[in-house]
Amino acid sequence: MEKSVKRFLVGIALVCTSIVLIGCGTGSTKTSGSGGDETSGKRKLIVGTDATYAPMEYMDEKGNIIGIDIDIVNAIAEAAGFEVEYKNYGWEPLFPAVDNGEVDFAVSSITITPEREQSYDFSDPYFIANQLILVPEDSDVESFEDLADKRVSVQINTTGHIVVADLLGKTNSKIVAAETMPLAITEMINGNADASVGDNAVIIDYKANNPNVKVKTIEDDSFEKEYYGLMVKKGNQEVLDMLNEGIEKIKENGKLKEITGFDVE
Ligand code: ARG
Repeated sequence: MEKSVKRFLVGIALVCTSIVLIGCGTGSTKTSGSGGDETSGKRKLIVGTDATYAPMEYMDEKGNIIGIDIDIVNAIAEAAGFEVEYKNYGWEPLFPAVDNGEVDFAVSSITITPEREQSYDFSDPYFIANQLILVPEDSDVESFEDLADKRVSVQINTTGHIVVADLLGKTNSKIVAAETMPLAITEMINGNADASVGDNAVIIDYKANNPNVKVKTIEDDSFEKEYYGLMVKKGNQEVLDMLNEGIEKIKENGKLKEITGFDVE
């Protein structure tokens, strides 16, 4: 009788121990799985950007990379089941970083152009933009044509730089090509340029956030629609497929429109 009671107690103890152990095991997996990428089993892609481009990609006071593009990529990653880690490269260094595989892809309000498509592959378009002109409030500039004999600041090697180079001539010293868009705008504010040309969202955001700076924007019908894409190393079909899968999903489920406020295509 006593023996069987003992056995019974030992049995219960064993069952309890295993429950605790199983419990512990499950608990710890959950804890590390929720935050980490290693235990989640999801692939982590390194994403390069030029975080000087508010409201699209920029840094908050704490140095976190945020913006509309970042929200879009986060949504794409969630929809396609991968993780992302952002790295700030700056605009020009971003392109070699994609080439040499330091990053899996780049997000940076990058317009898909035939020239770039010769060296890189692009995802399906996820955003529509156009160039916009920013001038001092008292400027007599009324159209893009009016910039032909003016000093114009742009961010170097952007589509803004390209349209201005087409109008003024590639080697024209009146083109002020700055490393970042904020620097290009500063050149204009400081009187080193008569106008700035850049992507509409960024120009509009600058004006909205600097109500004390006396500037106005000028639209021009000659500016073509530009489509932003995510950029991968030429031939990286694997990453391209993941990105396009995510883009298709967030176009379908309305998430992309929720972030940007408009439909693409
Ligand atoms: N859309 C323009 C281009 O592709 C400008 C992009 C600049 N992006 C940036 N994050 N600085 O040339």
